[in-house]
Amino acid sequence: MSILGIETSCDETGIGIFDGQRGLIAHEIYSQIELHREYGGVVPELASRDHVHKTLPLIKKTLREANIKKSNLSGIAYTAGPGLMGALLTGASIGRSLAWSLNIPAIPIHHMEGHLLAPLIDDQEIKFPFLALLVSGGHTQIIAAHTLGQYELLGESIDDAIGEAFDKTAKMLGLPYPGGPEIAKLAKQGAQNTYQFPRPMTDRPGLDFSYSGLKTFAINTFNASGKTDQDKANIALAFQTAAIDTLFIKCKRALKETHFEQLVVAGGVSANQYLREKLSTLQQSHNISVHYPTKDFCTDNGAMIAYAGYLRLKHEHQHSLAFSTKARWPLTELHPPKHT
Ligand code: KG4
Ligand code: ZN
Repeated sequence: MSILGIETSCDETGIGIFDGQRGLIAHEIYSQIELHREYGGVVPELASRDHVHKTLPLIKKTLREANIKKSNLSGIAYTAGPGLMGALLTGASIGRSLAWSLNIPAIPIHHMEGHLLAPLIDDQEIKFPFLALLVSGGHTQIIAAHTLGQYELLGESIDDAIGEAFDKTAKMLGLPYPGGPEIAKLAKQGAQNTYQFPRPMTDRPGLDFSYSGLKTFAINTFNASGKTDQDKANIALAFQTAAIDTLFIKCKRALKETHFEQLVVAGGVSANQYLREKLSTLQQSHNISVHYPTKDFCTDNGAMIAYAGYLRLKHEHQHSLAFSTKARWPLTELHPPKHT
């Protein structure tokens, strides 16, 4: 059973093909980063138009790479939300039309479920239930993943997502979009302990986050500094350390409360090296196994959508072609597959 996955929720056109026997057999990604860079962030209308141009050629390329014909596909999975509505509609329209013409199911996939499952693509060790930390441009969530489709929200950001705070802080420091990897790179030049940034909401109970104040703290610190290159690097380091330490503190707390022994980390920010170093200490100190997607599948991609589609289609064969795309869509509204 080979499933084609289409991801167009934001600024990446991602296509993947996952096969039940052979695993991931092909994936292609086209990033619009250059298109949006001059605006310092994603321009939704430009994103939709570019997905219209890129999606079909990329599907053809991925099928060629996999060396299979479209008539050999068993289903088409597409990101149905959350994300930019115009961008989502592009992938959904192409995916459903293709499925209809091939007389195969079209499977709507929740973008964050795709991220959450991405580490499982090539790591057979991970088994439900587990704790998941989802950290991207739009989400900062701690989830109890009980089984496929049954996700309990334990904590989330009450304002900016962590990736968004990275991006805004980077913009303020004059770094290009997307800011997360840029901050991480600049932080390497920073001197330790020049600034002490707060670890928001860690001094009170609960698993929620707040990143808006941390971003403002970075802006105020920058404005009060000499604004030299070294000041910028010091601020990048202090910001990254505080943002990631906060994740670490909350994850440790969540693991203690839930007694899960596996932590799955996914979403764009899971590519951050300092985050990985910090969380790896849980392995030694608390015997927790920590899992990440391979680097290519931390940020948006089609492979994770194909894989999520495969898992869902394996258990549930009926999927309506009339499913609506959703700009907002809590992960907790999902259900396990119905075993048709
Ligand atoms: O998952 P993703 O590709 O898209 C969303 O679904 O949002 O995540 C993108 C986010 C951006 O905010 C980007 O700055 C951040 O992930 N990011 C990073 C790193 N790589 C990407 N943040 C910190 N360190 C990184 N190495
Ligand atoms: Zn994403």
